[in-house]
Amino acid sequence: MEIINHKVSLGNISSESLVGKYGSPLFVYEPEQIISRYQKFKNAIKYPHTQIYYACKANSNISIMKLLKKEGCYIDAVSTGEIYTALKAGFSSFNILYTGDNITDDEMFYCVDKNIRINIGSLSLLERYGNRFRGTDVTVRINPNIGSGHHSHCITGGPESKFGIYIHDIDELKKIASNYRLRIRGIHSHIGSGILDIPLYLEAMGIILDCASQFEEVNFVDIGGGLGVPYHHKEEPIDIEILGENITKKFQNFADKRDEKITLALEPGRFLVAEAGFLLTKVVSIKKTPKYKFLGVDSGFNHLPRPFIYGSYHRILNASRPEAEPEEIVVSGNICESGDIFTQGKEGIETRYIPKAREGDILCICNAGAYGYSMSSNYNNRPRPAEVFAENGKDKLIRKRETFEDLISNQVY
Ligand code: LLP
Repeated sequence: MEIINHKVSLGNISSESLVGKYGSPLFVYEPEQIISRYQKFKNAIKYPHTQIYYACKANSNISIMKLLKKEGCYIDAVSTGEIYTALKAGFSSFNILYTGDNITDDEMFYCVDKNIRINIGSLSLLERYGNRFRGTDVTVRINPNIGSGHHSHCITGGPESKFGIYIHDIDELKKIASNYRLRIRGIHSHIGSGILDIPLYLEAMGIILDCASQFEEVNFVDIGGGLGVPYHHKEEPIDIEILGENITKKFQNFADKRDEKITLALEPGRFLVAEAGFLLTKVVSIKKTPKYKFLGVDSGFNHLPRPFIYGSYHRILNASRPEAEPEEIVVSGNICESGDIFTQGKEGIETRYIPKAREGDILCICNAGAYGYSMSSNYNNRPRPAEVFAENGKDKLIRKRETFEDLISNQVY
């Protein structure tokens, strides 16, 4: 994103001309940003047997997955639908990890049939898995008794979290494994999402390595994803080089004590795609109440639910007039709920200073590459936007805008 000729441009194309071509609202991604994020991440970790699994729940557009595949990335999937999409994107089943929660028998059979590594996150599931697939290899997800994340909904470790086999239950885990002759080949953990607290992340990694050292047959340790990006100018980006050095040192120490070659896996989602994506939306109404001035736009929490669900901050630019005098406003969506506010904060509606907009102006909502389209819905029967790549002055459609026909295509009437 840059300001060129007094307009916000994405991939060197003005937001206005992208909307002119593809309509509003519109998701735009800068692919070279995704690639450079991936390379930065990969290069920061010097341990030679490292595998990066893209957590495609962040954005499962096939063109984005293909981009990462070309770079040598693997896939972390949390549903068989994500596995299906990854296979369509050309990933080999050996390069996919399945970390579904509350896995059904059908899902187990689907993975085993396709040779996909399955990651089990509960003792009862491990028992069921053992019953079905006695004597096989398995990976287990451990809850290390600590968690972190940008919102309570996104903390996946510690006593309040539904995820993983609790670290205190390792003896029970071993018992079940031995009853069914299961070989515990992988240990996994993911403590939350939107983590900027690096010491805590490393502490969790230490707990997981201690846990892995109790299993002789483990040859794969996955320390999860969850690394945050700055959404607000007050937040600092993670120093990925320093984090990488710490991870490498810690893991190398652990690996040196093992006889077998051991793989280090990580599962970034947001870190790779969040900052590469933008949601463009048109101002269609401006109104005042005694409290606020509202800029009403043609998108809503059906397209980017993060402010509505988590009170998450997303930087908003006036793409048509980025250098105009700022004014204090609230940006409201077009969904029939009062909470449909793009400037929603953790405690309720917040105002913002944005360069003074007129009807017809295009707003650019930043950091929309992760958990934007992938969490979108058809609420209020509104079609989802198109998605495009923009790079070096060239644009490419990677998903068509939905039509009214798409909205009703599965209905039987
Ligand atoms: N691995 C596992 C097992 C996960 O559950 C997740 C995210 C990730 C990796 C990737 O986390 P990331 O690197 O993207 O933080 N909708 C929320 C985020 C939910 C994340 C769920 N799990 C949001 O918009 O902030």
